Amino acid sequence: MSVFKTIGKWIGRMVLLLLSVLLLGYLFIYFSTEKRMNKTYRFSETPLTIPSDSQSIERGKHLYEIRSCADCHGAKLEGSVFMNDVMLLQITAPNLTKGKGGLPPDYAAEDWVRVLRHGVDKNGKSLWMMPAHESAVLHKDDLAQLIAYCQSVPAVDNQQEKLKAIGPIGRVLMVIDRVAVLPAERIDHEIPIAVNAPANKVEIGKYLVSTCQGCHMADMKGGSPVAPGFPPVPDISAKGAPGGWTTAEFISTFRSGKTPEGKFLRNEFMPWKNMQHFTDEELTSILSYLKSVN
Ligand code: HEC
Ligand code: HEC
Repeated sequence: MSVFKTIGKWIGRMVLLLLSVLLLGYLFIYFSTEKRMNKTYRFSETPLTIPSDSQSIERGKHLYEIRSCADCHGAKLEGSVFMNDVMLLQITAPNLTKGKGGLPPDYAAEDWVRVLRHGVDKNGKSLWMMPAHESAVLHKDDLAQLIAYCQSVPAVDNQQEKLKAIGPIGRVLMVIDRVAVLPAERIDHEIPIAVNAPANKVEIGKYLVSTCQGCHMADMKGGSPVAPGFPPVPDISAKGAPGGWTTAEFISTFRSGKTPEGKFLRNEFMPWKNMQHFTDEELTSILSYLKSVN
């Protein structure tokens, strides 16, 4: 009898120990993610002049489309619930118009610049899931035109739920760097805005693919799925399938969602439908860049 009692006591102790280790581990995860989320970023930024002519606004609309803003904020800038998973993350991509549920009436050009170049809110804390590390590369004229367009869009009333919470799985994924929640961490806040547009095809392509890097990675070689339930991301460098495609085949892949090998790209994983807004010229530059990456 006493042998069982002793064993029982040991099992009890082991369970208690295990629970304490788990608790301590989670406390570490909790506080380290809290610290990162509450970090304040400071930087100086030169004011940007926003144009108001119709040509700039038209160009800004194109930028809104090819820089994939519509994927999250919608075609009319009305916003959408980006993710609503209690264990993972709950976050709303806001209504960017000045309609009901939209941006405050005094939201100014410098607020847009702060968000798009630094990925922080007005208190200097990183926004969540807003891919500002991708818009941070925009040169001066493109950024100004993008903002001009956004500010010109008619007000839309969309009072969606304002979600902003992170669950335990979200925190774990943040600690092991599997989900990039905080864009401000991925931006060098000291780099001043680029003044000149890229000049040759390869450079233009490199500039345009910053919107692909969230999934295909900085080296275009893809890798593991971007989130649970997603497929692995293919290599699109010179070594991947596009390395062997002609320009016409590359363009047709983006127009039809079907690759030269006959594979249908699933829009929910590879948002090719919104990418149809790329012009043939832009896609040609993208392919030139991809073929230059080994
Ligand atoms: C992957 C989804 C996603 C994409 C793509 C995206 N956004 Fe966002 N955006 C968000 C989310 C989510 C937030 C809210 C972040 C928060 O509240 O912490 C946000 C916030 C913003 C805000 C801040 C509003 C405020 O409250 O100050 C602006 C402005 C904005 N986005 C503009 C853009 C523009 C312009 C683009 C394209 C260059 C873009 N976004 C692309 C998800 C996205
Ligand atoms: C949200 C993540 C995501 C983004 C952003 C993204 N891709 Fe993809 N891409 C994928 C995934 C996932 C696949 C595989 C799709 C499938 O299996 O249905 C893929 C497939 C492809 C393919 C086909 C490759 C093959 O081997 O058949 C090409 C080409 C491609 N992407 C190019 C691009 C380019 C260029 C951009 C930027 C303009 C881009 N992708 C942006 C996730 C993404």
